[in-house]
Amino acid sequence: MNILEPAGLALLRGFDPETAHGLAIRALQSGLVPMPRAVVSPILQTQVAGLDLPNPVGLAAGFDKNATALKGLSRAGFGFLEVGAATPRAQQGNARPRLFRLTQDRAVINRFGFNNEGAQAIAARLAQRPDGMVLGLNLGANKDSSDRAEDFATVLRVTGAHIDFATVNVSSPNTERLRDLQGADALTALLAGVMAARAELPRPIPVFLKIAPDLSGQDLADIAQVAMSAGIDGIIATNTTLSRDGLRSAQAQEAGGLSGAPLFEKSTRVLARLSQLTDGKLPLIGVGGVSSAQQAYAKIRAGASAVQLYSALVYEGLSLVSRINHGLIGLLERDGFANLADAVGTDRDKWL
Ligand code: FNR
Repeated sequence: MNILEPAGLALLRGFDPETAHGLAIRALQSGLVPMPRAVVSPILQTQVAGLDLPNPVGLAAGFDKNATALKGLSRAGFGFLEVGAATPRAQQGNARPRLFRLTQDRAVINRFGFNNEGAQAIAARLAQRPDGMVLGLNLGANKDSSDRAEDFATVLRVTGAHIDFATVNVSSPNTERLRDLQGADALTALLAGVMAARAELPRPIPVFLKIAPDLSGQDLADIAQVAMSAGIDGIIATNTTLSRDGLRSAQAQEAGGLSGAPLFEKSTRVLARLSQLTDGKLPLIGVGGVSSAQQAYAKIRAGASAVQLYSALVYEGLSLVSRINHGLIGLLERDGFANLADAVGTDRDKWL
C-alpha cells in the first residue's frame, strides 16, 4: 500500500499526527513510494524572481524541517520545494502533543515552535541535494536567542551556498514575540542584515519574506513598503492563522497556527491586497488552504506568481500535486491564457 495516497493516508490517520508525519517522511526517504509522473507542460512553466519553475506548485515550509527527504520530494512533481525552518542552533521546539488534525475542517493546528537540527546539520544535507530542483530554505530564529534578527542572517550565511532561495519567516505564531519583527522598524533592520549576508554569498539568491495572515491593512502597507525598499525579491503570503472562525472539530481550541481549508479565503485576501500594494513590482507566492486546481488558480488570478501547499497533503496525498497541475493546464487553456504569467492578478479586484 502506498502510504502517501488516500487509502494509505487512512492508515496513517490511525497514528497520532506527529508519528504519522514521521512515517510519511521515512516513506519518502526509503525511495519505495511510487511517485505520480510529473506533469510537464510549457503552459505551466514560469519564472519567479529569476527562478525557473517547471510548474507553479511548491511545497510549503515545515513539511521537511530538516531537509531529510529531499530526494523523495524532488520526485513528487512539485515545481519547487521549501524546507526548514532552520534556526542557527538545534532546538527541541514545544512539548508534544503539538500537531493536531482537524479532520472535519480539513485543517491542521501546529505549535511546533521551530523544532529543528540547526543550520549546520541542515547545511550539510543541503550540500548533498539532488540536482535539477529549485530548492529554498525557510529561515527562523532560536527561541532563546539574544538577537533574533541576527539569527536570520546567520542561517543564511551558513546555508546560502546550497540553496536557490531563502525565506525570512517572521510570521510563525509559535515562537513568542517573533511576529513583532514584522513591525516596520524591526523589519527594516532585520532585512538589512539579511541582505548584507546575501551579498557575501558565492552567488546571489532571491530572498523572500513570509508574512502572517492576521495583519491589519496598515501593517500590510508598511510591510510592502519596507520589503520593496529593502530589495526583497518576493513575498510569501501567508503563514498559519491565529483565527479559529467557523471551525467544527473538537480540537479547534488547541493553541497554535491554523492551516488548511479554513485559511484559504483569508490568505487569498491578504495576497490580493499585497498585489495591489506592490503593483506587480514584487512577485508573490500564495499559500494557505490550497487543495485543488481551482484554488491554486484562484490564488494565481488573485496575484500569485506561484503557490505552495502543505496541509492538503495530509488529506489528499502527494498525488494532489499532479492533479493540481493537470487541472491548471485545463483552466488556463479554458480561459485562453497562453501561459501562466498572463493569468497572474487578473481577478485581483474580486478579492479586495
Ligand atoms: C507550517 N508552516 C511553516 N511555515 C514556515 O514558514 N516555517 C515553518 O517552519 C512552518 N512549519 C509548519 C509546520 C506545520 C506542521 C504546518 C501545518 C505548517 C506553515 C506552512 O508553510 C503554510 O504557510 C501554512 O500551513 C498554510 O498553507 P497550507 O498548509 O494551508 O497549505
